[in-house]
Amino acid sequence: MRRDGDNIVTIDGPSGVGKSTVARRVAELLGFSCLDTGAMYRAVALKASEAEVDPRDSASLSRVLSQTTVEFSPEGHVFLDGRDVSKLIRTEKISSLSSELAELAEVREFLVGIQRKIGEGENIVAEGRDMGTYVFPGAKYKFYLDATVAERAERRFLQNKRGDIPLSDVEDELRRRDRRDTLRAENPLRPAPDAVVIDTTQMSAEDVIAAIFFRTKDISLRGDSK
Ligand code: DC
Repeated sequence: MRRDGDNIVTIDGPSGVGKSTVARRVAELLGFSCLDTGAMYRAVALKASEAEVDPRDSASLSRVLSQTTVEFSPEGHVFLDGRDVSKLIRTEKISSLSSELAELAEVREFLVGIQRKIGEGENIVAEGRDMGTYVFPGAKYKFYLDATVAERAERRFLQNKRGDIPLSDVEDELRRRDRRDTLRAENPLRPAPDAVVIDTTQMSAEDVIAAIFFRTKDISLRGDSK
């Protein structure tokens, strides 16, 4: 019999560990949708930035959130108030502002509500920081990807084709993000007690995808994937 949470795979972990690549591919293999929750925090940051809201002004922020919609297309593009912002949210400025806004309870409540609604209606691979611990505690399949900060910095550095940010700066920024993500009061980053923790430091993305797919293969065998 199908239970609540059987339709959800969660993948959490720190910045730069490769969650998005892995989650997208696992979703494809299972025939599930991929829910990139980081993109939702980024979309809210873009909205706050365009509306020139000071993150410390709680009343203004709540008012702006009450007039905001964040949705995904089946291809995984993110829409802010009906506008495709998939590219606009990938700037350094928005990365930094999203990290700041992710500490605020009103922002988290707003996005967690949308995330849970999506999880009620669809088979999803949900990736982020608090998927297994807070948003979908009943998910049957939970993974936590980790890697040393040096390894994550190197992966990010190699991804940056322009090579205009020194490796040491990339590493410093990741350390800052790690501190913010793990020390915040609201749903900090940590593995759920029932998550499978995978140290990816010495693994390729293909190895990680295979490890997750192997553990979730009863979903595909069960035949309820789309
Ligand atoms: O994964 P990302 O870099 O796109 O996420 C953007 C920011 O949102 C990052 O600072 C962490 C935060 N975030 C969060 O707090 N909770 C999530 N479930 C997903 C992202």
